[in-house]
Amino acid sequence: MTPDNEPTGMDQKNIQIEVVDLHKSYRDGEGKILHILQGVNLQIPRKATVAIVGASGTGKSTFLHVLGALDTAEKGKIYVEGQDLLSMKREQCARFRNQTVGFVFQFHHLMQDFTALENVMMPLRIQSVALSEAKKRASTLLQQVGLGDRLHHRPAQLSGGEQQRVAVARAIANSPKILLADEPTGNLDEETGQQILDLMLQLNEEYGITVIIITHNSALASSMKYQYRMVHGQLTLLTNHS
Ligand SMILES: Nc1ncnc2c1ncn2[C@@H]1O[C@H](COP(=O)(O)OP(=O)(O)O)[C@@H](O)[C@H]1O
Ligand SMILES: [Mg+2]
Repeated sequence: MTPDNEPTGMDQKNIQIEVVDLHKSYRDGEGKILHILQGVNLQIPRKATVAIVGASGTGKSTFLHVLGALDTAEKGKIYVEGQDLLSMKREQCARFRNQTVGFVFQFHHLMQDFTALENVMMPLRIQSVALSEAKKRASTLLQQVGLGDRLHHRPAQLSGGEQQRVAVARAIANSPKILLADEPTGNLDEETGQQILDLMLQLNEEYGITVIIITHNSALASSMKYQYRMVHGQLTLLTNHS
C-alpha cells in the first residue's frame, strides 16, 4: 500500500473499498499491449464522497468498470466490504452488480421503450421484487429525485437532467452501498450538472451511500471529500477535507 494514498486519520476498520496493486491492459488493433492500470492503490472509507479526475484516456472509466464488476483485471486485489471482487464467480458478480453497487453513466443508458417508472422498476424486478412493491418503491424513488410528476414519461420525453435523475433513481433502486458515476454531468449544462451532483451528495448524506464520481469539472470535484487524479495508470490522492 502506498502511504501517500491513504487518506490521513482513516480508521482501518471503516474501510469499505480497498484496491491493491491493480493492473489492467488492453490490446490495440495491431495486438500491441496497452498497459492502462499500472498498480492502482486506493482505500476508501464507508460513506465517503470521492472524485476521480485526470486526462482523457488515462483509464478512469476502465478503473470504475473493474471496481463495479463490469470488467476484470489481470493482476491485483479489490476488496469491497471484505468481498474479494476479482475472485468472484459469475453469479456472485451479478449479485454484486445488482445489490452492492449502482452505476450512473454520462449517457443515461435508459431503456427507450420504457417509462421512467418501468426503468427504475427493472433492477427491482430482476431481484424478484413483486410487481406492486416494485411500482411503489420506484415511484417513491422518482419522487425523491424530483420526478414525481414524470412517472409515465419515456426517456425521449424528458430533459437531459431529468433523464439523469431517472438514471440515479434506477442506480439506487436496490439500496446499493456504493454509487459509481462515470462523468454523470458531462452531458449537462452547468446548473443541471450541479443539481445532479447535489442529488448524489444528498443520497450520501441521507443514506450513507459512498459516492465515487469521475468528472472533468473541477468545481464538482472539489465538493467531494477525497479527490484523486489518474496519472500514469495510478491514482494519486489530491485532497482530504476532513
Ligand atoms: N475495450 C478496449 N480495448 C482496447 N483499448 C481500450 C478498451 N477500452 C479502453 N481502451 C483504451 O484504454 C485507455 C483508457 O480508456 P478509458 O478508461 O476509457 O479512459 P478515460 O475514462 O480515463 O478517458 C484508452 O486509451 C482507451 O482507448
Ligand atoms: Mg472515461
